[in-house]
Amino acid sequence: MKTKARMEFGDFQTPLPLAREVCKRLKVEGVAADVVIEPTCGQGTFLVAAAESFPRSRMLGWDINQTYVAEARAALKRAGASRRSSVVCQNFFTHDWEAESEALQGKLLVLGNPPWVTNSAVSAINGSNLPTKENFLGLRGIAARTGKSNFDISEWMLIRLVRALRGREATLAMLCKTATARKLLRYAWQNDGRIAKAALYRIDAAAHFGAAVDACLLLARTGSAGPAVAAVFDSLSAAKASVRMGLAGQDLVADIVAYRRMRHLEGLCPFRWRSGVKHDCASVMELRPTNGRLFENRLGEQVELETEYLFPLLKCTDLANGRTTPERLVLVTQRRVGDDTSGISHKAPHTWRYLQSHRNRFDARGSSIYRGRVPFALFGIGDYAFAPWKVAVSGLHRHPRFQVIGPFEDKPVFLDDTCYYLPFEQELHARLVADILNSAPCRQFLRSLTFTGVKRPVTVDLLQRLNLTAIAEEAGLGEQWRALERADYRTSQAAPQLQLVMETATPPAKGILRKPASARYGRPMIRQKVTHKPQSKTAASRGDKAVAQVAQRMKFET
Ligand SMILES: C[S@@+](CC[C@H](N)C(=O)[O-])C[C@H]1O[C@@H](n2cnc3c(N)ncnc32)[C@H](O)[C@@H]1O
Repeated sequence: MKTKARMEFGDFQTPLPLAREVCKRLKVEGVAADVVIEPTCGQGTFLVAAAESFPRSRMLGWDINQTYVAEARAALKRAGASRRSSVVCQNFFTHDWEAESEALQGKLLVLGNPPWVTNSAVSAINGSNLPTKENFLGLRGIAARTGKSNFDISEWMLIRLVRALRGREATLAMLCKTATARKLLRYAWQNDGRIAKAALYRIDAAAHFGAAVDACLLLARTGSAGPAVAAVFDSLSAAKASVRMGLAGQDLVADIVAYRRMRHLEGLCPFRWRSGVKHDCASVMELRPTNGRLFENRLGEQVELETEYLFPLLKCTDLANGRTTPERLVLVTQRRVGDDTSGISHKAPHTWRYLQSHRNRFDARGSSIYRGRVPFALFGIGDYAFAPWKVAVSGLHRHPRFQVIGPFEDKPVFLDDTCYYLPFEQELHARLVADILNSAPCRQFLRSLTFTGVKRPVTVDLLQRLNLTAIAEEAGLGEQWRALERADYRTSQAAPQLQLVMETATPPAKGILRKPASARYGRPMIRQKVTHKPQSKTAASRGDKAVAQVAQRMKFET
C-alpha cells in the first residue's frame, strides 16, 4: 500500500504472533466468546488468532479495503474457519453499531486494532477517511467535553463502540496507543459509559509495528458501571499489575492508589505558573555570542546586534540536566503581549534591520496565534518574564527537577516554551519554593499524577494543583513557608509575583528596558478569576474559591 493511503487509513497490520499473544491473554483473563467481531479487520490476523483460541465462536469482520477483505477471507479459509465466519467490505463510520450489537446474541468479544491516525493528519493529506460531518459534530461535543480538538480516529471509533455496547455485557479488546486508551476510559468514566472493569497491557509498538509510540491492549468489560480504575500491566504476559490508573475528579491520575494516599497535597498553588517565551522562529531568535556585539544565529549567520533586546536563555534539557548557566541568548521583542515592536527601529537599528531581513520567516509562522499580530510578536511574555529570580522546570521530562534561576550578567534569564516557571523578586523566596517543590512528598505526589510516554508530562494545569502549604508542612518546611506567607506583599519591594491572586494595577511599563522593581510590578490587587483555562467547571469553581481563600489568608485588598 502506498504511504499516503497507509497514513490515511492508519494501516498497521497486526502480526499474527502478537494477535495470538493477545488472544492467549484474553483466555487467561477468562474471556469467553460466542461471537467475535473485528470492526476494522484488515488482513484478518485477529480473526485467525481468535478462531484458534475460540474454536466454537462465530467470526465477523469488516474493513474498508476490499483487497484486505479478500485476504482476510482467504486467511480464515486456510485456518479452517470459513464456515463460521463472515468478512464484509464496510466503512466503519457508516455502520450501525447499535443495531449490530442488538442483533448479536450470546457472549460478545469486540477485538482488533483500529487505525492509528489522527483527524488532523488525515485532513493534512486531504484524506476523506473521517467520520461523516454529522457524526463529526457529535464528536466535537465529546471533544469539547474532553478538552481536545485533535483526536485519534481510533479514539472516535472506540467511543462509538463503547456507546453501542453500553446496554449489553461484552468484552472490548483493542490494540491502540496508550494515550488513546486513557482518553477512551476517561470519556467512558465521565459519561456513564458503563465500564465494569478495565485493564491496559503494554505492548512494544516499535518491535511489532515499527512505530515509536506507547501502545497497549485495552481490555474493558461493558454493560455495568464499575470503579473508575484500570490496572496497568507492563506486558501481555505480566502476572501482576504494576500500577492502577484512575479518575480523580475530572482528571486521570497515573497511580490512583498513591494519589489517594497523598491527595491532601492537592489544592491550588497560590502562585501562577507561567510558560516560557514562545516565538516559533528559533533559527532567527536564538543566538550565541561570538565576539563583542557579534552573535551567531541558528542559520549560521554572524550578525551585529545591540544587546538591549538580547536575554540569556535556558531550555528544558538545560533544566533537566541541571545546567543553569545560559549559553544561548534570545531576542525579546516585546515586554508584554501585544506591545508595538516598531520602537525597536530607533532604539536598536541593527536589531531591527536583522529582524526585517528575516521577516518572511516570522510571517510564515504556522500557528494561528500570530495571525493579525504586530511583526515579530511573542507569547509567554509579560512583566513576570523579566523577574530576576525564577523557579523553573522542564515540561518534557517526567521526573521534574525544579531549578532556581538567578540573573545572568545582570539580566533576567528567559526560559523557552518547553519550560514552566514561577517568577520571584527575591532569591530567598525562590530558593524556599524550589526546596518545597523538590521535596520527597512533592516528587511522590507528582509521580502519582503523571503518565509515562506522554509528550508533555508536566503541564501548567498539573503544577497549578500543587498545594504548597500542605507540601511544605509534609516536607518539614512549614515554618519557613508560613514566614514567607506572612511577608507583606503589598510593598512592591517584597512582591514575590503572586500572579494568580495579583494583577498590576498600574499601566504597563513601556519598552523592555529594565526598571526598578517598584515600577515593574506596581501595586498588587486581587483578581478573583483564574486566568489559566480550567479543566472543568468544578475545577474553575474550586479555583475561584481557593483564590479567595488565599487572598483572605494573605490579607490582600479585594
Ligand atoms: C491498524 S490497521 C489494523 C488491521 C487489523 N485490525 C489488524 O489488527 O491487523 C487498521 C485497519 O483499519 C482499516 N480501516 C481504516 N479506516 C477504516 C474505515 N473507515 N472503516 C473500516 N475499516 C477501516 C484499514 O484498512 C486497516 O486495515
